[in-house]
Amino acid sequence: MAKEILTNKGPVIFEGPVSSEYLDSLEINRTLNNFRHPKRQKEALGLVANHPEGLVYIARSGPEIIGYVLFHYPNKYSRWIRHPRVLELGAIEISRDWQQKGIAKELLQETFTNSVLDEYILISTEFYWHWDLRTSNLGVWEYQNMLKRIYGSVGFKRRHTDDPEILEHSANMLMVRIGKNVGKSHIEMFDELTYQNSILI
Ligand SMILES: CC(C)(COP(=O)(O)OP(=O)(O)OC[C@H]1O[C@@H](n2cnc3c(N)ncnc32)[C@H](O)[C@@H]1OP(=O)(O)O)[C@@H](O)C(=O)NCCC(=O)NCCS
Repeated sequence: MAKEILTNKGPVIFEGPVSSEYLDSLEINRTLNNFRHPKRQKEALGLVANHPEGLVYIARSGPEIIGYVLFHYPNKYSRWIRHPRVLELGAIEISRDWQQKGIAKELLQETFTNSVLDEYILISTEFYWHWDLRTSNLGVWEYQNMLKRIYGSVGFKRRHTDDPEILEHSANMLMVRIGKNVGKSHIEMFDELTYQNSILI
């Protein structure tokens, strides 16, 4: 996919899934540093793009990556890896220079025109300690609400789970989008995975 929109800072192009070779040919915005240094972040995008199941979508201004969303298999130590149709939305980030222009929502809209995502149960494990509370000027609950709206715009819903990492703080959340082509048995298998620690009396 490739789409262009015009913002008050100029045109923004959305494209993906992109290859690591293509990512190598681009620069990365210096404020894409919420999770790691921009240089390391660009390397991480390349690594995900190189994985057979990895998907990287970017928002670009000229030769500069100004935002991205990526998907990969869940962490091998997590419960979700036991499910054959679960893919994790690993992160979405928009450069601070370009935030609040509708770019995150547009990037997701464009990404979800890829029907391959309808074959998967997509999860996003949201831990508040990853959020940009410092520069967004949002409180933890406002930030959580913002993310629910952003993910909700492409069909994610919050799901309860007894995953201990999610339970560590009440602002953490598991967001889930069940693709329209996912079969009943895979949905049931996922339902069972959400609660693993219940004691049956
Ligand atoms: C979360 C993030 C991706 C949003 O990117 P963005 O391009 O600014 O988001 P958009 O412009 O598409 O806005 C989406 C919604 O969030 C709201 N929003 C975004 N930033 C906001 C802010 N700082 N304060 C208040 N509202 C905000 C917008 O008003 C919009 O609201 P709506 O749903 O009512 O339309 C960006 O803030 C970011 O990269 N944060 C750091 C990384 C992160 O937290 N990622 C998510 C967890 S992986």
